[in-house]
Amino acid sequence: MTDRTTPAVAEAERWTAHNYHPLPVVIAEAEGAWVTDVDGRRYLDCLAGYSALNFGHRHPGLVAAAREQLDRVTLTSRAFLHDQFGPFCHELAELCGKDLVLPMNTGAEAVETAIKVSRKWGYKVKGVPDGRATIVVADGNFHGRTTTIVSFSTDPDARADYGPFTPGFRIVPYGDLDALAAAIDETTVAVLVEPIQGEAGVLVPPAGYLTGVRALCTGRNVLFVADEIQSGLGRTGDTFACDDEGVVPDMYVLGKALGGGVVPVSAVAASRGVLGVLRPGEHGSTFGGNPLACAVARAVVALLNTGEPQARAKEVGAHLHARLGTLVGKGLTAVRGRGLWAGIDIDPALMTGREASERLMARGVLAKDTHGSTLRLAPPLVVTREEIDLAVDALAEVLSS
Ligand SMILES: Cc1ncc(COP(=O)(O)O)c(C=O)c1O
Repeated sequence: MTDRTTPAVAEAERWTAHNYHPLPVVIAEAEGAWVTDVDGRRYLDCLAGYSALNFGHRHPGLVAAAREQLDRVTLTSRAFLHDQFGPFCHELAELCGKDLVLPMNTGAEAVETAIKVSRKWGYKVKGVPDGRATIVVADGNFHGRTTTIVSFSTDPDARADYGPFTPGFRIVPYGDLDALAAAIDETTVAVLVEPIQGEAGVLVPPAGYLTGVRALCTGRNVLFVADEIQSGLGRTGDTFACDDEGVVPDMYVLGKALGGGVVPVSAVAASRGVLGVLRPGEHGSTFGGNPLACAVARAVVALLNTGEPQARAKEVGAHLHARLGTLVGKGLTAVRGRGLWAGIDIDPALMTGREASERLMARGVLAKDTHGSTLRLAPPLVVTREEIDLAVDALAEVLSS
């Protein structure tokens, strides 16, 4: 059999910067929860593009929306309006229960937008003295890769050699409401947190944390900004991870799955009192809210409005967690998460997360390590119980081999 994988891996290694350490699989095709490599091997995708593929690869409705839009108009820039823009902003705002939406492209851009809007709100509405705004964030956070965002990362790999850093951020332990309360003062404009920390290893905060953040922010006139880029849009079994505690943040930051695994689409959603601080020329993006992005994202919002992806994540996710739970003490030291999202700690005496993901790959399951011996499982929400069984059986084999 011809080996197409080896030369393809070598070419990528030779010609790209090594800012990732991908598994040596070269994907040529994909459908639903499955991908096929250049040598015809099939794998169950248990990463789903870091949750960008919540609805599966090439979801027929999303691909159809993209195809239809490709035949009409793909890009206008924000200098002009187009017929997908108003409907997209309207429909996403309603999904979020907010007045206004500002579309961007990548997650990091949406987080940057949230930071800029929070600061501007602080100066224009809250009355913070110019240049003094502070934003409180959690340690272990992952909000993206821009210079400002890595300024408040606690991950040395994400930060090292990228200084000087943007000031104005205070870092407190994740899940610690007392520390959060102590960090807020009259200069604080926002608390920016992930409702569940994805890159940190699917860390679920203590029950009542998000409710406590909400109460603190309301009480101290600070914006609660929820980065739902990875946790939102069905992954946890709810539209937003904040829904689990019935908490509504002042600003949702969305990305990844909003683009349906087809195009990058991100956005922030907030009230008029918050997003209304922006005036023409003060922020923007050439590609943000483009016709193709809006058409696909409208189809994503329509899917979420059916409630089906959320229901599947809840039901099949319960099965995933039940099955993973049986492996604790049998190679796993801990399992965390919610819905179709799990962070699993592999006994470090057995192997690293990287080794586990390589061995899973050899058994037809693609998953990615996060830190050390932690592996994240986040299959597309179209995955079946039987496919979950296949993945967990493969994991059990890896742990006992
Ligand atoms: C919670 C969270 N915020 C922001 C980002 C950054 O998104 P992007 O890679 O699209 O810039 C990520 C990406 O993993 C994320 O998980």
